[in-house]
Amino acid sequence: MSHGIPADAAAPPRERARDLSALFAPRSVAVVGASDDDAKYGNWLAVQAIRMASTHEVHLVNRRGGEVLGRPTVRTLAGLGAPVDLVVLAVPAAGFESAVDEALAAGARALVGVTSGFAEAGAAGREVQDRVVARVRAAGAVLLGPNCLGIYDSTTGLTLASNAMPPGRVALLSQSGNVALELKNTLASHGHGFSRFVSLGNQADVDVADLVRDCAHHDGTDVIAVYCEDFGDGRAFVAAAAEAARAGRPVVLLTVGGSQASIRGALSHTGAMTSSSAVVDAACEAAAVYRVPGPRALVNVAVTLARFGPARGNRLGVLADGGGHASLGCDLAESAGLAVPAFAPALREEVAALLPTAVTVDNPVDVGSGSELDIGTFASVSQAVLGSTDVDSLLITGYFGGYEEYGPTMTRRELDTAQRLAEVAQAHDRPVVVHSMYPDGRAAAALRASGIPVLGSVDEAVECLGLVVARTAPRVPQPPRLAGSPVTAAGYWAARELLRGTGLSFPDGHAVHRSAAAGTGDAAAVEQVVAAARELGFPVVVKAMGLLHKSDAGGVVLDLGDEDGVRAAVAAMDARLRPPGYTVERMLDRGAGLELLIGTQRDPHFGTVVAVGMGGVYAEVLADVAVALGPVDEDTALGMLRRLRCAPILAEFRGRPRLALDAAAHVVSEISFLAAAHPEITELEVNPVLLTPTCLTGLDARIVLDTGQPQEDTRWTSA
Ligand SMILES: Nc1ncnc2c1ncn2[C@@H]1O[C@H](COP(=O)(O)OP(=O)(O)OP(=O)(O)O)[C@@H](O)[C@H]1O
Ligand SMILES: [Mg+2]
Repeated sequence: MSHGIPADAAAPPRERARDLSALFAPRSVAVVGASDDDAKYGNWLAVQAIRMASTHEVHLVNRRGGEVLGRPTVRTLAGLGAPVDLVVLAVPAAGFESAVDEALAAGARALVGVTSGFAEAGAAGREVQDRVVARVRAAGAVLLGPNCLGIYDSTTGLTLASNAMPPGRVALLSQSGNVALELKNTLASHGHGFSRFVSLGNQADVDVADLVRDCAHHDGTDVIAVYCEDFGDGRAFVAAAAEAARAGRPVVLLTVGGSQASIRGALSHTGAMTSSSAVVDAACEAAAVYRVPGPRALVNVAVTLARFGPARGNRLGVLADGGGHASLGCDLAESAGLAVPAFAPALREEVAALLPTAVTVDNPVDVGSGSELDIGTFASVSQAVLGSTDVDSLLITGYFGGYEEYGPTMTRRELDTAQRLAEVAQAHDRPVVVHSMYPDGRAAAALRASGIPVLGSVDEAVECLGLVVARTAPRVPQPPRLAGSPVTAAGYWAARELLRGTGLSFPDGHAVHRSAAAGTGDAAAVEQVVAAARELGFPVVVKAMGLLHKSDAGGVVLDLGDEDGVRAAVAAMDARLRPPGYTVERMLDRGAGLELLIGTQRDPHFGTVVAVGMGGVYAEVLADVAVALGPVDEDTALGMLRRLRCAPILAEFRGRPRLALDAAAHVVSEISFLAAAHPEITELEVNPVLLTPTCLTGLDARIVLDTGQPQEDTRWTSA
């Protein structure tokens, strides 16, 4: 099934696609380390492998020989005397390296490393892992794991995961075994299962991006669900996920790193450096990935997308059989970013005709507010609402599913209605999610069998509907050519000079250097500052150079109105701070506009990211920042400005004309290209930038250059 996400015109070519056919569709498999001891992975995997013995050649390898699980074994792969496509390795860590060599010698084109104790265990383990990967790649094979739970593909009958998996149309790629098993159970309770399940393990060779890219073109898959802590090459993940989105197989992502504690946890779990949540959001935006907050939401969103595809917009119809759930549904919808618009007159009349005694017929609709409830109206009203163009998705909330308690007549009517609802949903292809107080009843089962998600709480149902609103088409930024000469100076003056090329202006100013030999006061430097101020015209601002937080140290003096004022201020600063020099610049009227910030950072996984937000003294408190993967074009930059919470005051506001948003978007774009072309810039921040109705002026800027040393964590957060 293919869902209607529009393809973007400039789809980049498929890069780095790897042939994973031996992993997903081997003809022959071997389990090395097969065991009768049901406390061992080698046993669990052998049990699963034997299940596929009628369709695949399955070999069990045990170095003691004899029988395992009632089947003959060989002592070594060489003993098979014939090549084998895929080899699962469930041997002790000490024997892993030689087992890999044996597998490659036996002609294996794919290896699944279940054994643990490698990169996740420390430097020595990483060394072994790196050696193994080099040999696997040299042999033209692929390695999944190590430290993984195996692989499953219901479309090829491959059962090589530690546990039995339910078949279905969701591909799950998971870096956590337990999370995967929880997802399996929840998915199965919805009547769904996996087209593929891949346990990522350490991603030493095959990584999440390779797998997403392969699943993007897998006919048996409708949706790709991902649980990932370590994105490795994040840009490859973004490119692969965008490719999946274009192929109509959206990626739903659950990840960690939103809290300091989870960052610590991930580091010890898989050795992963997590990216900040705002950066992951930016990656999801670029790749049209549906990010979810937890495992239940992952399943709910996956099954809804698998059945209906995304909602084309955020307009929700709410249909209830009681006022309480109707109102709750509406409030929850608003917090989930959905709108519950009043119906157009034509639809309202149509619904009113179906519910002659009801009082609420214009969204939310309360079919229970009339005198006697005809539960058949759930279906007829749904038909009317989905048949209109007034909504993009539908929530049914309340008692439906529980009417069977009243006896055979209601049971029959309820099941009939469930059947009709299934037909209506089928006919309209817009997401329908049912909240039922009786999610385990027969009507709920009938709805679920038709693919309609039935959830036990209205919160969860609305959350799901909020998360399946279509993402904008993927837009994967392409890195620019690297700049020829690296940036080497990082002070305020150097930043002003560097940023001039981006079209960002700074107040007219001069740099004055101070003699390093001067002791308690460099009178000549003071007079040079005074002369520069005279030339610029008053009022001026003087800033001491070489300080990280200038104003904290008293290194910034604003609004100096005459020569004597400048002389006194600079002389005092000079005696106290003895800075390497000064910047003297025109004082601007900050009341004429709004202070923004424009910044870039280099993320370890996702590369250059760019941020724009509310700047100045409120920057940290308000945390109103939009983040995107860089570089961004002007259009994207404009979109970032427009989604700030402060966006309304960027427009015409209280008699002040609209601020120069296009100029701001231009500079944001230019700065993002500049940073992307200079890998030595780990951080660049212009804060504040004064945006007025006519122009954009930087008032402070700083650059952080890569020193090879660990640096203070200054990652953006957005509220
Ligand atoms: N030329 C100028 N015209 C008007 N206001 C200015 C000018 N330069 C700086 N300012 C204001 O003074 C503030 C402090 O200056 P600056 O940012 O250079 O010092 P800082 O040490 O980085 O201070 P902070 O830590 O507060 O950002 C700026 O944030 C800005 O609001
Ligand atoms: Mg500052």
